[in-house]
Amino acid sequence: MRPGNHTIDEQRQGEAIGPRPGGQGGRKLYLESYGCQMNFSDSEIVASILAEAGFATTQQEDEADLILLNTCSIRDNAEQRIRHRLQRLKQGKRDNPNLKVGILGCMAERLRDQLLEQEKLVDLVVGPDAYRDLPRLVDEVEGGQKAVNTLLSREETYAEIQPVRLDDKGVTAFISIMRGCDNMCSFCVVPFTRGRERSRDPKSIVAEAHDLFAKGYREVTLLGQNVDSYKWNVDAKGQVKDPEEPVVRFAQLMDLVSEVNPDLRVRFSTSHPKDMTDEVLEVMARKDNLCKYIHLPVQSGDSDVLKRMNRGYTREWYLDRIAAIRRIMPDCAISTDVIAGFCGETEEQHGATLSLMREVRYEMAYMFKYSERPRTLAERKFEDDVSEEEKGRRLSEIIALQQEHSRERTAAQSGKVYRVLVEGPSKRNSEEFQGRNTYNTVVVFPKQEAQAGQYVYVRATDHTAVTLRGELITEAEAKAEGYIA
Ligand code: SAH
Ligand code: SF4
Ligand code: F3S
Repeated sequence: MRPGNHTIDEQRQGEAIGPRPGGQGGRKLYLESYGCQMNFSDSEIVASILAEAGFATTQQEDEADLILLNTCSIRDNAEQRIRHRLQRLKQGKRDNPNLKVGILGCMAERLRDQLLEQEKLVDLVVGPDAYRDLPRLVDEVEGGQKAVNTLLSREETYAEIQPVRLDDKGVTAFISIMRGCDNMCSFCVVPFTRGRERSRDPKSIVAEAHDLFAKGYREVTLLGQNVDSYKWNVDAKGQVKDPEEPVVRFAQLMDLVSEVNPDLRVRFSTSHPKDMTDEVLEVMARKDNLCKYIHLPVQSGDSDVLKRMNRGYTREWYLDRIAAIRRIMPDCAISTDVIAGFCGETEEQHGATLSLMREVRYEMAYMFKYSERPRTLAERKFEDDVSEEEKGRRLSEIIALQQEHSRERTAAQSGKVYRVLVEGPSKRNSEEFQGRNTYNTVVVFPKQEAQAGQYVYVRATDHTAVTLRGELITEAEAKAEGYIA
């Protein structure tokens, strides 16, 4: 979900996180996360639950008593990568027989006890709604047993659990606002691995944002598989549950979080074209701290393919949503997800995806070859009939076109003045800092007096394909020139 890369991205892979102090007891947890931002956010909940049980997180794999992989099932290659990792860990266990290895997240949910019973790769399997049970399950495993809990829940949102923040920069953080997904896109495994959609109490969301701001964080990203269907105090049929309490939908939630402080930037992911309302766009337009950036996955530019994908919109509907964004926020950055070679996709339908991309000119895109997933509607109903070579060719055309658009977009952002949230040292050069502008474009500039977590004003004087480079200027200069907030 988080745009971090302007070309192809296989979701973030296997990042170790920590160290963070845990409770007493001296046991060490090495936690590795794969997949989408939701998994990275869940890992912070897991670290919190296990800290209560006496585990401190470590970044040193070889000093761990417990290694947990928080896994992703979205495409076959995501699962294969995790299998290889588990096989290597199994070999490592010969050196340290006390080491316990477990899997969490979507692959745990999808395969249940298979990795434990048949393949004997792990000691522990815990699905995304069962993390509160981790201390008990870990005790069982330490007592020499194997442990599994993959029960999905209709209510669990981990609302009151204070995540242990594992990103050590302390500037940006994720807040999960909902879990699960009710959409049943025909290619997608998420409804099977994450269960039914449920929204988290807005009070706990706002409280978490306040707490983060007080700790020095300056940006939050609100996370859900379909944030536009966030709802509180109203049921699926639109009936109000408690007439004494306000109904909170996504537009109101964004308004509430934006009020925490004008210096707290708010981002969100992922929007769904079928549910994104003008009301949400109008709230965004009113407030500078609601960042002008929308990730609106299209998947395909052809209405027949979209129908087979069960996405709930046509090409025309999608383009109408793009027009609404441009009308209400003319400068808003837009990114997307695209799937190449879905079942039955013809050359002409592939061409429709390219033509839609040309029409929208996305800032950034995540682009994938279709990968058939067990139990999905597409697996049961359609033939995966586009050859691997053909998928590859179509994907490279999509990537090449996107690279052109990304370059064009960065060039158009060059030459302007931005308010930039400083995130920390630049990846390439420690004498430089990097941050992002409201459009989520990375901006690199000389360090000077700036500090992580501060806002600075940067005049973008130069650019590469996807990053801006510039010089620091004063607030007064920025105001005189007219900066982009
Ligand atoms: N909830 C988000 C997407 C979550 S999955 C949404 O609806 O937009 C992230 C992306 O992975 C999807 O947007 C899709 O482009 C891609 N994806 C999902 N299942 C896939 C599959 N079976 N093969 C290839 N790509 C897939
Ligand atoms: Fe998957 Fe569709 Fe739900 Fe996104 S909206 S998680 S693609 S089922
Ligand atoms: Fe992967 Fe599960 Fe996220 S399948 S993309 S980790 S919801």
